[in-house]
Amino acid sequence: MIEQGENGFRLTTEHTSYWFEVTKFGHLEHLYYGPRVNAQSPEGVRLKRTAYIGSSIAYDPSDEMYCPDQMCLEWSDNGRGDFRRLPMELKMPDGSYVTDFTYQGAEILSGCAPMESLPTAYGQDAETLKITLKDTSSEIYITLFYTVFEKCDVITRRMVLENRTDPESPNPPISLRRISSMMLDIPNRNFELRTFSGGWSRETHMHRQTLMSGIFENSSTTGGSSNRHNAGFLLGEGSASEQNGLVYGFNLIYSGNHCGTVELTPHDLIRVTLGINPHCFEWNLAAGEKFETPEAVMTCSNRGYNGVSHQFHDFINEHIIRGDWKKKERPVLFNNWEGCFFDFDRKKLMGLAKDAKELGAELFVLDDGWFGARNSDKAGLGDYNVNPKKFPKGLKAFADEIRAMGMEFGLWFEPEMVNEDSDLFRAHPEYAVRVPEKKPVLGRNQLVLDLCRKEVQDYIIENVGAVLDEAGISYVKWDMNRHIAEGYSPILTNQGEFYHRYMLGLYRVFREIFEPRPHILVETCSSGGNRFDLGMLCYSQQIWASDDTDPVERLAIQGGLSYLYPISAVGAHVSMAPHQQTLRNTPLSTRFNVSCFGCLGYELDLKYLTPKEKEEIQAQIQFYKAHRRLFQYGVFSRTEHAREGKILWQCVSPDRAQAIVGFFQGVQHAVEGYDHITVTGLEPNGIYRIETKAQYLYINRFGGLMKHVLPVELNPDGLIIRTANRHFTLQDCVEVYEADGAMLEAGILLNNQFVGSYYNTQTRLLGDFGSSLYVVEKTEK
Ligand code: GLA
Repeated sequence: MIEQGENGFRLTTEHTSYWFEVTKFGHLEHLYYGPRVNAQSPEGVRLKRTAYIGSSIAYDPSDEMYCPDQMCLEWSDNGRGDFRRLPMELKMPDGSYVTDFTYQGAEILSGCAPMESLPTAYGQDAETLKITLKDTSSEIYITLFYTVFEKCDVITRRMVLENRTDPESPNPPISLRRISSMMLDIPNRNFELRTFSGGWSRETHMHRQTLMSGIFENSSTTGGSSNRHNAGFLLGEGSASEQNGLVYGFNLIYSGNHCGTVELTPHDLIRVTLGINPHCFEWNLAAGEKFETPEAVMTCSNRGYNGVSHQFHDFINEHIIRGDWKKKERPVLFNNWEGCFFDFDRKKLMGLAKDAKELGAELFVLDDGWFGARNSDKAGLGDYNVNPKKFPKGLKAFADEIRAMGMEFGLWFEPEMVNEDSDLFRAHPEYAVRVPEKKPVLGRNQLVLDLCRKEVQDYIIENVGAVLDEAGISYVKWDMNRHIAEGYSPILTNQGEFYHRYMLGLYRVFREIFEPRPHILVETCSSGGNRFDLGMLCYSQQIWASDDTDPVERLAIQGGLSYLYPISAVGAHVSMAPHQQTLRNTPLSTRFNVSCFGCLGYELDLKYLTPKEKEEIQAQIQFYKAHRRLFQYGVFSRTEHAREGKILWQCVSPDRAQAIVGFFQGVQHAVEGYDHITVTGLEPNGIYRIETKAQYLYINRFGGLMKHVLPVELNPDGLIIRTANRHFTLQDCVEVYEADGAMLEAGILLNNQFVGSYYNTQTRLLGDFGSSLYVVEKTEK
């Protein structure tokens, strides 16, 4: 709800309030953002200005207490006495950097306000407040947009800058050197900042830090939103936990260079800005032109970090994800990459497909290497002709064969790239991004295509579109495997526009390809999670989280992502162990138990699976299908009460009748203490049955200890044991309890873990990196 009254503008969601007013000098003073308040007078929440703070600059001689640097503002100018990080830096027609934007008027619109150039959140049930400000000495205007998504407790913000100078006048264009989407000023509450950073194969690890005086920047300069620093971040009250306390969340609907700053001032005010990174950015705005900033997303909860995550998840599923796959269950896929890399042909793939189908896969995804001279990562990118040696009858014939087996067919593309060794590069070297006088810098042997150019966009749109239609493809993996190092396009007169124009070009390509084909499930990818952001999620319903498929690593990666993005958006696959990324050996059960808290896939050479492993995978896929809605669209929470080193995740169905809990061990210690599981969010008086999901316990886990388990002594590496291990497993510990929702919230204590050489069916045998799932169902009672 948006109200415009005597006391300014009040934006209300189900559980939050956002309040600001127009000051006597026409600035927008921020009053409050936090848990919902209903009082009519803002005096209680307003930042007080009753004393002049030395060395401050007063905006007007009539009021020496009115010092912009000591105020909470919605937007602020350079050159008016605010010395914090400003949301904008403009070189004005008079050559100065001084601006003074004041209030002109407001308008309340029903629904969202879509942009012409960039993707935005959407939804009929939203409301938008448009506030216009004008510079006091020029015809430059700003429009601030606030869109309120009441049910998800989200408010989005963006800004449009317009140069309304008479095009006939001799004024030079204004130059934009920094332009944020939003700015928020709030008093400090001993805030802790949480960011999600990493690199290739170790994306979105959560980093925590107490704010210190100065400016902290969370940004990317790689041309994409990057695996280094995800655009989303959180600010939680010092005492906030997963379940309790005040937490603010921020994110940006943009896939290019982003920049978020959090400043703690000497007077304990916090300023947050978020938007396009000013790094190498400069945009000239001629008379009559306007510039639209990406939409920033804000949320706030007093129910801790999980509260903020739930709101982000609902918002993304409801107002970001588009197409026929919105809120639809994702298929279990098989992807041939880790199993084959570039070494495959039709025959090998048909063998894999047959096995994948038997295991229960619903979608077969052919990854890199199907086209041109793509037999390694040195050649072929940019070409779209199918490799006739690998597919003698063409791609459509192969796709038809897969469909005839009862699976859908999906295909990998990397359309933004070109190898120098490709037909495209030989024909159009000018399509590649490079600075003519310098040697180009390569990443994974490839160059970036210049998406600022319309003919390059059109080349991709036509070629990808043709392959999709010809082969009847129903899933696309859209990859992008290098950073953009040199931002230069000869078609631009101002190179400071390169990175943003690249993104505008890419978004056009996505729109043109996928809007007419809403039935296609799109999974974007960028060397794993190098572009995991809300801009991508406007065009792809899921994103490949990481090239690291080791489940132990994935706990950190998927755990980090879960703060900002829903499970239904996260691609997670079971792969072969020892893992190619870490050489770590992990149980097959744990590989599944982590991947099922995501969009499940399998990515390994199936021909080396033992009969027992095949049986186990079949059972895993069956289990996942039976609980898929709960995993993908249930309410996901992290539980903080696990013992040190252990991790507990849970998904609860919206009707609170079902839940699944994942218990993840980490490294096993001798004589482990007493573990428990908890489930929050169930009906306190509801009666539930809790049962461990039965898992396979392989005989060779015991090595030489087997003599304690079996009546006869056998060589642990002998033929008998090796054969037995392929066909038989021991019974794992299954626990069954009945408890009410309140007891589940308090915690259910579990059976002991393995101690010494002791084995019986009542002992939880997890070992290093072991894990268990617990299924919680409401009973009729
Ligand atoms: C990237 C992706 C992988 C795979 C390869 C193919 O690394 O993240 O999943 O598709 O490219 O080259």
